[in-house]
Amino acid sequence: MSVTGCCSCLPNSFVLRFAPQIAEFCGVDELARSLYLNVLFIGDVVGRPGRTALRHLLPSLKDETDADLAIVNGENAAAGYGITEGTLAELLEAGADCVTTGNHVWAQKEAYKLADREPRLLRPANYPSGAPGRGAGIYEARNGVRVGVLNLLGRVFMAALDCPFRRGDEELEALRAECDVVIVDFHAEATSEKRAYGEYVDGRVAAVIGTHTHVQTADEQVLAGGTAFITDCGMTGPSDSIIGVDKKVIVQRFLTGLPAKFEVPKRADSVLDAVVVDCDEATGTARNITRICRSHPSGEEASGDQR
Ligand code: FE2
Repeated sequence: MSVTGCCSCLPNSFVLRFAPQIAEFCGVDELARSLYLNVLFIGDVVGRPGRTALRHLLPSLKDETDADLAIVNGENAAAGYGITEGTLAELLEAGADCVTTGNHVWAQKEAYKLADREPRLLRPANYPSGAPGRGAGIYEARNGVRVGVLNLLGRVFMAALDCPFRRGDEELEALRAECDVVIVDFHAEATSEKRAYGEYVDGRVAAVIGTHTHVQTADEQVLAGGTAFITDCGMTGPSDSIIGVDKKVIVQRFLTGLPAKFEVPKRADSVLDAVVVDCDEATGTARNITRICRSHPSGEEASGDQR
């Protein structure tokens, strides 16, 4: 009889030591599965609809993908702009192990202190020195593997920060000294910049996952050196919108050229875009990357669910 799911929470060192016994009692498939490191990455969570979809979908998605670690980009979690203590708590309660950000990280004033005191919240590492918070962290996956997460911000069509390539190298050196697997959230506008970064670190990290555009791209792949890559992971937020924002406001802005306040609907049918990366901790690279897109109808929310 094969018992499934019994070994996935065991440290790999233990699994390796008792591999013959695990194979005998639980089956070879379970042995192989318990040695995998699956990292689930969720695309930019936008406003309340995004947080609601995450809360409803993430727990089952973690089970389904056998995720050992869940990373969520939360830079639009607070009504589309930045992140607050309350919205960060919602993402963590939903099952995020680490929350990355991007160009809107400082949009909410409380993010300054939050970034300093909450190690599970990252801001892009290439902000000039002296910025609050940290741009990289190490998190323990369910199977005991220490996973480094690095958050970087591109510079094409965005504010000119320190060079993400060179600043990233400094962080990578420190991360690789302490962990076997590194995942990078490269938050950027230009597809070329994201792909260039993927090629630059190919073979040195397990995955480069692009974020920011809120549109999931269909170019997921493992690059020649073994790094999993996707230009953009996509969005977790209102589907009937323009990248998460009320579509009428955006159309009007294009028609008139006048500034308009971006509004995220409070309640809406949503999508959850994600990727899961099958990492090889022995080499620090990836075996596979799979794109995920789920929907969450707003009608499925419990009545009174108004957070
Ligand atoms: Fe962004």
